[in-house]
Amino acid sequence: MNSSVEQEVVFSPLDVERVRAQFPSLQQSINGQQAIFLDSPGGTQVPQSVMDAVRDYFERSNANTGGAFATSSRTDAVIADARAAMADLLKCAADEIFFGANMTTMTFALARAIGRELKSGDEIVVTTLDHDANVAPWRALEEECNVVVRQVDIDPADCTLDLSDLKRQITKRTRLVAVGYAANAVGTINPVRDIVRLAHEAGALAFIDAVHYAPHGLIDVRALDCDFLACSPYKFFGPHMGCIYGKRDHLLRFRPHKVRPSTDTVPARWETGTLNHEGLAGVTAAIDYLAFVGTMCGCNVPTDRRAAIETAYKAIRQHEVALMTRMIDGLLRIPGLRFFGIADPARFEHRVPTVGIRVGNYKPADMAARLGQRGIFTWDGNYYAVNLTERLGVEDSGGLLRIGLVHYNTVEEVDSVITALTEIAASECKNVRA
Ligand SMILES: Cc1ncc(COP(=O)(O)O)c(C=O)c1O
Repeated sequence: MNSSVEQEVVFSPLDVERVRAQFPSLQQSINGQQAIFLDSPGGTQVPQSVMDAVRDYFERSNANTGGAFATSSRTDAVIADARAAMADLLKCAADEIFFGANMTTMTFALARAIGRELKSGDEIVVTTLDHDANVAPWRALEEECNVVVRQVDIDPADCTLDLSDLKRQITKRTRLVAVGYAANAVGTINPVRDIVRLAHEAGALAFIDAVHYAPHGLIDVRALDCDFLACSPYKFFGPHMGCIYGKRDHLLRFRPHKVRPSTDTVPARWETGTLNHEGLAGVTAAIDYLAFVGTMCGCNVPTDRRAAIETAYKAIRQHEVALMTRMIDGLLRIPGLRFFGIADPARFEHRVPTVGIRVGNYKPADMAARLGQRGIFTWDGNYYAVNLTERLGVEDSGGLLRIGLVHYNTVEEVDSVITALTEIAASECKNVRA
């Protein structure tokens, strides 16, 4: 969160009403209540500009690539624009970006390509905090290439990675360390820069799953020095797609599984089959939306998209920290509530505004259903962070209730969910007494 560039950015606070005006879906009502979207870790809402870009693609540019006619040339431009936009978002070169269906599918394919170079006894390190999309693709190599997968433990008291265990698990046989930037179930931000350094010192590659971090924090792959970094545009206000950054040398060296006679140039050699072109038009629009937030918040070089994105994240972070502080304070006052993750405001720099809780004896699914009836959208279960819910001992009893905030959420929405949870918790106490 604290790159030196970010520190220098001048910005004014986020105008949340102006932000919300960009998102038509936020206006919906459920049972007479204005809907409250606290489900963003499962996917964010999209601004009007993203919807317009997708529709515009179908109206003006719909074609396959590489043809000698106008709509095909426009499609080639749409793909190039999306790569350039992602390059600004992640701070890399456009030919270090490749797209696909979603992070999970793409990570399986990348792992399979990397696996071609591994041999029996090589090791891969994964973590207990991660979404299974950053575990299962690497575990698949246990069967395919006989590699050994080691799993880093957490400190269950605050759901942070156990860094001494991480150091123990990285050995001279480690070939790759796969770690999340932020935990999708409980919001912990991992010290990824340090983890990349530890991986490199052992001669291993570092793969970062930034799917959950991307809507909340500025990413700079050059500063991280990671070898690969994955994210999913539908988690940062864009369409349902996936995207991976890879250092150019790696994208040239590793060999993806491909049909013939498709191109062998980077990054296209990593994109098997036809891409979601309309989605790519939306990806560019989503990143331009973030840049718009930056200009709205005072970026004085609006022609520099990266500079505008940096300002946007600074303002987004400030707003999210205020919401998160209020929400966690409110949650901790609810009798019978169990909180999973970092709860101390002095350590909030190590978390994003995604929280995991249990309330009394309620099953998280029942809580989510009750909130849903009130128009408050949350998630229950493990959200594929199944190693974590097992480690916390909550998997067999329904996992956790997850409340996820992003920058279009408001103080009033935070207060509403706290009031609703307080009432639901109190009604359980009454039932138990009756
Ligand atoms: C942290 C994290 N990693 C990976 C994924 C999987 O992403 P996708 O749906 O693009 O496969 C998710 C989805 O929820 C996630 O939250």
